[in-house]
Amino acid sequence: MKFFADTANIEEIKELAETGLLDGVTTNPSLIAKTGQDFIKTIENICSLVEGPVSAEVTALDHKMMIVEGEKLSKIAPNVCIKVPLTWDGLKACKALSSSGININVTLCFSATQALLAAKAGASFISPFVGRLDDISGNGMGLIEDIVNIFNNYPDTLSTEVLVASIRSPLHVLESAKLGADVVTVPPNVLKMLASHPLTDKGLSSFLADWEKTGQKII
Ligand code: G3P
Repeated sequence: MKFFADTANIEEIKELAETGLLDGVTTNPSLIAKTGQDFIKTIENICSLVEGPVSAEVTALDHKMMIVEGEKLSKIAPNVCIKVPLTWDGLKACKALSSSGININVTLCFSATQALLAAKAGASFISPFVGRLDDISGNGMGLIEDIVNIFNNYPDTLSTEVLVASIRSPLHVLESAKLGADVVTVPPNVLKMLASHPLTDKGLSSFLADWEKTGQKII
């Protein structure tokens, strides 16, 4: 399973990229606004830090302008992936841009039939938002299960990767992996939570206390 960072914060991305565990980055207009930085420059910077796909979202609502914006954003770097919303216009833009070889991430997906349409429109990634569904008492992980099962029924014709978005906790990551989702995009704080366990901390301090008693040093 691939791990993307769901942030536009350069410092956070730098730190995560150093681990070698980062396969890509997703941004959206809200994450860009949070940085207070220039959109194009921010995407350019992120693309220089990460080899994998970096999602940059269009803000136009009609497909013709989405295509113009998508073409402009795709010129920033070869690893830019254009994000379009799951609307009729977004699907039209997805079809046109993907047909000209540009990678597309279709975002704001909340149903399996929406995901199916995005796959048929040639999306490289479909982004179902699990946290926002859970927020309204929906079943975020149930949606992932449905999409993964549907895509698995058509391995020869649907090659879109399921990118689980709006992740709020380590449990969302665990469940995504169990269901066979292709990618999770995770906020940096949640990504760090994945590495921590109280028994690891406890075990490490007792190992170090015992090591002190030996009076030895490795270097
Ligand atoms: O990748 C989409 C994600 O940023 C949305 O997350 O937490 O705003 O629902 P959230």
